Amino acid sequence: MKHIKLLFVLPLLASAACSALASADDGLVFDPASGKAGSLTMPDGQTVSYTAYEKLFFVTNVEDSTYQYMNVFVPETATGETPIFLRTYVGGYMASEAARPQAGDASGRALAEGYVVAIPGSRGRNSKVGETWTGRAPAAILDLKAAIRYLRHFDAVMPGDAERIITDGTSAGGAMSALMGATGNYPDYEPYLEAMGAAKERDDVFASVCFCPIIDLDHADMAYEWLFKDTDSRQGLSDEQKALSASLAARFPAYLESLRLTKADGSPLTADNFLDYIRELLITAAQKAKDAGADISAELGFTFNQESRGRFAAPLNGGMPPQAVNRPAGGPGGRVGEYITGLDMPTYLNYVVSTQPLKGVPAFDSKDVLGSRASGENDEFGDAAGSSVNYTEYAASLTGATVSEELRRRVFLMNPMNFVGDPQATTAPHWYIRHGARDRDTSFPVPVAFATKLQNAGKDVDFLLAWNRPHSGDYALDELFAWIGSITK
Ligand code: DHB
Repeated sequence: MKHIKLLFVLPLLASAACSALASADDGLVFDPASGKAGSLTMPDGQTVSYTAYEKLFFVTNVEDSTYQYMNVFVPETATGETPIFLRTYVGGYMASEAARPQAGDASGRALAEGYVVAIPGSRGRNSKVGETWTGRAPAAILDLKAAIRYLRHFDAVMPGDAERIITDGTSAGGAMSALMGATGNYPDYEPYLEAMGAAKERDDVFASVCFCPIIDLDHADMAYEWLFKDTDSRQGLSDEQKALSASLAARFPAYLESLRLTKADGSPLTADNFLDYIRELLITAAQKAKDAGADISAELGFTFNQESRGRFAAPLNGGMPPQAVNRPAGGPGGRVGEYITGLDMPTYLNYVVSTQPLKGVPAFDSKDVLGSRASGENDEFGDAAGSSVNYTEYAASLTGATVSEELRRRVFLMNPMNFVGDPQATTAPHWYIRHGARDRDTSFPVPVAFATKLQNAGKDVDFLLAWNRPHSGDYALDELFAWIGSITK
């Protein structure tokens, strides 16, 4: 409890003023007197002043000094009770240096809202010291967990409340945020963290914000083909590629059903009704955008209620009558109602793939499969000597590779799906997950299954297939920070 710990803050701060460091006997160091004043000018011209604590090394056995530290920014109004917004800038599963808050993204906005902002660096698939690749999986999540432990370790002498950490990231960073949220205190990470010299603390967090998380890498190939194999963009493939696409797609139903997910009413989600479930989520997202004034085109596959001339329709757009938009494709062109009543999924999916080309087959574990090059994920699971590997049994069976037990463990530790509902994990109670309604970097089933699994486990989940968003993050910040306000009030 923060207010109990606060009793100890003043003496410690006083001793820090006499140049003592808040250093535990484990060798980790935080000097409360080391803060430097700084400021950030927001897009609206507002200047936010902060105290910056930079280069906080969060492990004692530093392997890669470029990445294994964190910067923390404390706005003037922060106290020991202020929630901590932890932003990771991991992208593409690559290494990420500790940074400063950016005015244009959620880190700057968090600072302007008065939150303490923590930006840890982490090793990644491209980090290298001498001849050693330092950041192959699960290095990045280990570094981020070590950063969380550091915040807890020095919670009493650092502004901000380490019991209320909200993680945020996009894409591979969204995956990192999902892992931080899902895997709290899970024992399998412990030996690695101990070897790194991470603080001996808990590493569970309060909330996780995940934009377009690229997760479930070991099942993402089958999900991708299950959703996209019949789209126009897969028709030009070779017969071999089409056969592989079909074969991957055929493996998805058994995986989905192994998850034993249920709808909100408790009925089972199966391969037979999962596409309808996704359709409903897309309609919900499009309806939300339409209510806010967006034009939702029937050409994308939507149908609408058909009250003519808005006779039965409530006024839209601040009281203006419905506009003459959304003419049904091929129809007579009359006005259509305010409610979306249906979505033709083949039409919609062809729209999605027309906005950006699909990934190849397989989309993720592609190394040497039908002559494909290694993906970032093949590098991510590679070894310290620099090789890239097939990490799924299926791709390995096609290339003659083997998935060693050691690799299988690392793949396990990188998939947040494995930890939701496991009593050995302390999974965050609050989740905010966004995946763009035209994002094809991974397929809808992946984030949808993750959000549903969290919901089924009783978590508070705000999930949206955000309308018209491609692969991107830290958008609709008013909405995000209203949510953060609601969970931290
Ligand atoms: C990212 C995007 C991808 O398509 C992918 O496979 C992995 C990571 C990213 O943007 O971080």
